[in-house]
Order: sequence, then C-alpha cells, then structure tokens
Amino acid sequence: MRDQAEQLRQIVSTLQLNRKVDNTGCARVITITSGKGGVGKTSFTINLAISLAKMGYRIVIIDGDFGLANVDLMLGISSRYGLREIITGQMSLKEVMVEGPYGIRFISGGSGIKELVNLGSKELDVFLSKIDELNQIADIVLIDTGAGATDNIVKMVLAADEVLLIVTPEPTAITDAYALTKIISTTRRDLVLRLIINKAETVYEAQEILDKFTRAAERFLKIKINSLGYILEDNHIPKSIKEQVPCALSYPRCQASRQIRIVARRLINEDSKDIGYNAGMTSYIRKFLSLFKAN
Ligand SMILES: Nc1ncnc2c1ncn2[C@@H]1O[C@H](COP(=O)(O)OP(=O)(O)OP(=O)(O)O)[C@@H](O)[C@H]1O
Ligand SMILES: [Mg+2]
Repeated sequence: MRDQAEQLRQIVSTLQLNRKVDNTGCARVITITSGKGGVGKTSFTINLAISLAKMGYRIVIIDGDFGLANVDLMLGISSRYGLREIITGQMSLKEVMVEGPYGIRFISGGSGIKELVNLGSKELDVFLSKIDELNQIADIVLIDTGAGATDNIVKMVLAADEVLLIVTPEPTAITDAYALTKIISTTRRDLVLRLIINKAETVYEAQEILDKFTRAAERFLKIKINSLGYILEDNHIPKSIKEQVPCALSYPRCQASRQIRIVARRLINEDSKDIGYNAGMTSYIRKFLSLFKAN
C-alpha cells in the first residue's frame, strides 16, 4: 500500500509536467509560512508587500488563514467579503478585493478555502477563470498562511512554487520549521524555499540560525534553502500593529523596516536566478486541490 507521502509525490510530479503550459504572463505567487504560529508571518507579509509596492510592483495579498484572518486589521483596512463570495458566484474578484496603501490589494481567504474543496468541476472552472484575472492585476501575489503546520497549511505550502519560511530563535520554532522542511524535502524538492529569521536579538544570533538551518537541511535532507536575511526584534512592529498602520509606512527608517526592505530587494534580485517560470494563481489552486483530494 502506498503511503501518504508517496501519493503526494506522485500528484506533484504529474502536476509539474504541466506547469510550463501555464507560463504566460502569470503573477509570481509567493507563500509565506512557518512551522510554528506567532512567529511574525502576517506582519512580515504586510511590510514586505509595502516594500515591494514602493519598488513599483503590483501586489495582491491573500489571507490564507483558514481561521482568524487578520491581514486586513494590520493593514488598517476592513474587508467584508472574500474568496467565499467568488466561489458562490455572488461577486467578482474585483468586487471582493479591498485596496490598501500603495495600491496593495487584499483578498480574504478565510472559510472560502474550505468551500473551494467541495466545488464541482464546472463551478471550479468558473472560479478559476475569475481567479485568473489576478495575473492581469498583480505582479506578485503573497499568500499568508495560518498558524502552525496543520495538514491544510502543509498542502498550501506543497502547492506553491516559492515559499518564504519564517523562523524565530525559539527552539520550537526552529524544530517545527525543520519538520516542515523535511516534508517538503520528500515531496517537493523543486520548490524554491527561502529562509528568513525574525525576532532575533542580534545579527550574530540570526546569522548563526540561518547557517545552521541551511547546513542541516543540505546535509540531512539534501535540500537547498536560500537565506533571505533577517529581521531583528524591533518594538516598532508591535507598536505599528496597535496603531493599525504598517511599520514600513509609519516608521520607514526603523531597523525592522530597513531589514524588510533588504529582504524585498533580495527577493526581486534572486528571482531570475532561481525561478525560470511563474505558474500563476490558477496553477496554484489546481495543485492545492489535487493535494487536498488525495486523502
Ligand atoms: N521583528 C519583530 N520584532 C518584534 N515583534 C515582532 C516582530 N515580528 C513580529 N512581532 C510580533 O509577533 C507577534 C506575532 O506576529 P504575527 O501576528 O505577524 O505572527 P504570525 O506568524 O502571523 O501569527 P499566526 O501564526 O498566529 O498567524 C505580534 O505581536 C508582532 O508584533
Ligand atoms: Mg498571521
């Protein structure tokens, strides 16, 4: 009997054969995740979005949290609708999107993600054609996943072509991130995985974790992880969450904002080297659903 990992591997390899077909003017889809919750994914996603938008990129953020969505709260906007309304056919993509600072657009995923799984093939095609519009609207789509490496979140990660893995110096955050990397290493070896250390106390601490993590992954899991940099512990982040104005906007010169800008620049510069294609949103959702239906 095939085990679950083997089943996932087979689905992924079938999907990979088709990905070049999708490669026509598609948005770059980047999934932001972590092993453990509460490491700073959402605050990082928002501030990264602002840094990229300031560089001239058109950004859409999707809140991929199955439970409590809070991207809108941190962006200082409010969203009433989301993927759910697109799925039920009540609204168009443009109608559910809310515009935030620097033209950043936001789509709430929330409970809609679960409903996606139950769509019939005709309804799914309609949904995918609506989602396909994202490729005209966005250069980069950032998907912020929810807390912890639950089964659903792991599938969201495995469906991605580019993942930013956020790790803090907390030992549990490191071991949980390593466990997630292990799943990726046995299922999606081609996935472009980048590591970011958040909330480190010193540059030395951040660098040490980056080095140890990437070396261990290379040696024991035989998987390459790119270090994208670090963001040190900075009180401007919690302060700006309370004020509901992203740090990159209200305190652009603070340490965290500067370090996130460096990460944003690396992300853009590394693009051509690591990613030969952008499969886009439609491909992402198809892969996610195939993984979902596998078990
Ligand atoms: N670099 C930082 N310095 C100081 N505090 C930070 C930093 N990054 C994030 N935080 C704080 O960590 C907490 C968690 O942040 P956030 O909600 O972004 O994490 P998350 O990974 O999205 O959480 P969840 O897994 O619950 O979705 C917040 O209180 C935030 O202020
Ligand atoms: Mg979050």
